[in-house]
Amino acid sequence: MEETVTVQPKKLHELIQAKLIKAGLKADQADTVAEHLVFADASGIHSHGAVRVDYYAERIAKGGITLDPDITFEKTGPSTGIVHGDNGVGHYVALQGLEYAIHQAEESGAAVVGIKRLSHCGALSYYVKRAAEKNLIAISMCQSDPMVVPFGGSENYFGTNPIAFAAPREQGAPVVFDMATTVQAWGKILDARSKDQSIPNNWAVDADGKPTTNPHDVQGLLPMAGPKGFGLMMMVDVLSGMLLGLPFGKHVSSMYADLTEKRNLGQLFILIDPQRFTDLVSFKHSIETMIGELHATKSAEGFNQVYYPGEINQINYDRYMKEGIPIAKAVFDYLKSETVHFDQYGGTGSFATKS
Ligand code: NAI
Repeated sequence: MEETVTVQPKKLHELIQAKLIKAGLKADQADTVAEHLVFADASGIHSHGAVRVDYYAERIAKGGITLDPDITFEKTGPSTGIVHGDNGVGHYVALQGLEYAIHQAEESGAAVVGIKRLSHCGALSYYVKRAAEKNLIAISMCQSDPMVVPFGGSENYFGTNPIAFAAPREQGAPVVFDMATTVQAWGKILDARSKDQSIPNNWAVDADGKPTTNPHDVQGLLPMAGPKGFGLMMMVDVLSGMLLGLPFGKHVSSMYADLTEKRNLGQLFILIDPQRFTDLVSFKHSIETMIGELHATKSAEGFNQVYYPGEINQINYDRYMKEGIPIAKAVFDYLKSETVHFDQYGGTGSFATKS
């Protein structure tokens, strides 16, 4: 088992922010990234939490992120717009884009806003949850680097292209459903590699495109639910990349190959004001009724209960924000150190891995 330490959220925030500033990021942007990563770790989304700081810091230090981005807002219609991110740090650019989209949805009832040219934006839950806290229904999706074989193919073409949804409810935090469109995230392969454990044969393929149970042989991930996940990840790329005139499919920039290069990624927000369709109070009440009915559903063998999407993340969040967040000791030691790496990533080709 990986050794973990419990870190108070404020302390974790300070450490992340300080490291990113040391790498060259401005304090306000580092603050935004730190808030996002603490949210992810507290929610149990460790694949998109503090573990990523080493990578972000190296890309910042190497010039692969615009430190003083000229972010501009282009209104293209009553409910549509493009936010030009100038390849600023993803979490910061995406949050600016979200705030722009929220404003537009509150004004016109809906917003479809593309974020054009940003770096890795992290866990999508963070954005859709914020919008739902403002009583909006939110959908977001984004491109990621090619590491997934298309259904029936044996070469990587798409990224893990995630999609997330959130809806406001009567009591408590919004319902949030957020997933990569692969069977498993790349982080789970890395985890199995570090423990020398085999993986199920439906997660990934080797260099010949054959299903593999050896995590060290993995050269591509598999789409979730066969052709259905494959179709979904394609449409995510179409809507968050191609629609914005950005590189798509296998042409999307690699996360780890050359950290001096800007990423030029795309993200899309679709926000809907439920009040333009129904009464907000009854809508939120219906969500509550649905949750109650799901909770009352007889559980299957091996399960204690039915959880609604995002419920386990919210339980984690409520607990860890109070009690402290479990963080891998190696990550904590790195954050406390003076180190900003310059040689951990890069030069490994298109498949996402550390050198
Ligand atoms: P996951 O497989 O851990 O969870 C997917 C969804 O299923 C979540 O909404 C979760 O709450 C729900 N869920 C999990 N267990 C459940 C249960 N027992 N009952 C009911 N619901 C349950 O998520 P995944 O696919 O590993 O994605 C992790 C994160 O990675 C996401 O935040 C995603 O946005 C992010 N991501 C970001 C990328 C980027 O380039 N920015 C690329 C790929 C993923």
